[in-house]
Amino acid sequence: MDKSMKEVVEFRFACKHFDAAKKIEDGVLHELMDLTRLSPSSYGVQPWKFIVVTNEDLKKALAPACYNQPQIVEASCVVVMCARTDLAGDNGVLHHYVLKSKADLGYSDEESVSFGNMLSTSLLSKSSEELKAWAQKQVYLAGMELMLVAAEKGIDSCPMEGFEAAKVSEVLGLAKDIIPTLIVPLGYRNMEQPKKTRFDFDVVVEERK
Ligand SMILES: Cc1cc2nc3c(=O)[nH]c(=O)nc-3n(C[C@H](O)[C@H](O)[C@H](O)COP(=O)(O)O)c2cc1C
Repeated sequence: MDKSMKEVVEFRFACKHFDAAKKIEDGVLHELMDLTRLSPSSYGVQPWKFIVVTNEDLKKALAPACYNQPQIVEASCVVVMCARTDLAGDNGVLHHYVLKSKADLGYSDEESVSFGNMLSTSLLSKSSEELKAWAQKQVYLAGMELMLVAAEKGIDSCPMEGFEAAKVSEVLGLAKDIIPTLIVPLGYRNMEQPKKTRFDFDVVVEERK
């Protein structure tokens, strides 16, 4: 039976130990990534690239770059969620996004040019540090989407920032404008789900009726 949203949210936790022998089926993994692709992003630009590592040797090579956290080798796969800062130029994200949205949404030439100009004006004026921060924010949203769609299928995950981005880039041979931002191992838990600790509702939620 399908899980309710409440069950999905309660199922997800930061899994520290995965059953290394239990693998996610290829078709299921494909579906998870396909749904993750639907995550929202600022202006819809999708400044991200998701690298799905199932190769055992590559996972082993990644582990030292992730402070040897056990999830990296134990998980069925490791999704390295990267921010893209290659927005400008003929091969940049913006150019491709303008073409894609024109094709998908049927914009006229004029609408498309004006959309492209609006995107360039607001995004290409950012410094490289601002652009990186902006792109990374989008990646975190996609990370949450990935963890929830995984949970719905009974697949465990762990959001991870505990890695050295430069080393991860080196292992994966990434271009400098593809920036590892959040690593999400996926698989099946090999541990009890711990009790959650959270601030009480009234500490976190302030209602203005
Ligand atoms: C951005 C981010 C980075 C995190 N990095 C790590 C990490 O490197 N290793 C790890 O084991 N857990 C990591 N966590 C998991 C958190 O410790 C965990 O989500 C938090 O304690 C709440 O527990 P829960 O997710 O099980 O509800 C990270 C969580 C987030 C959101």
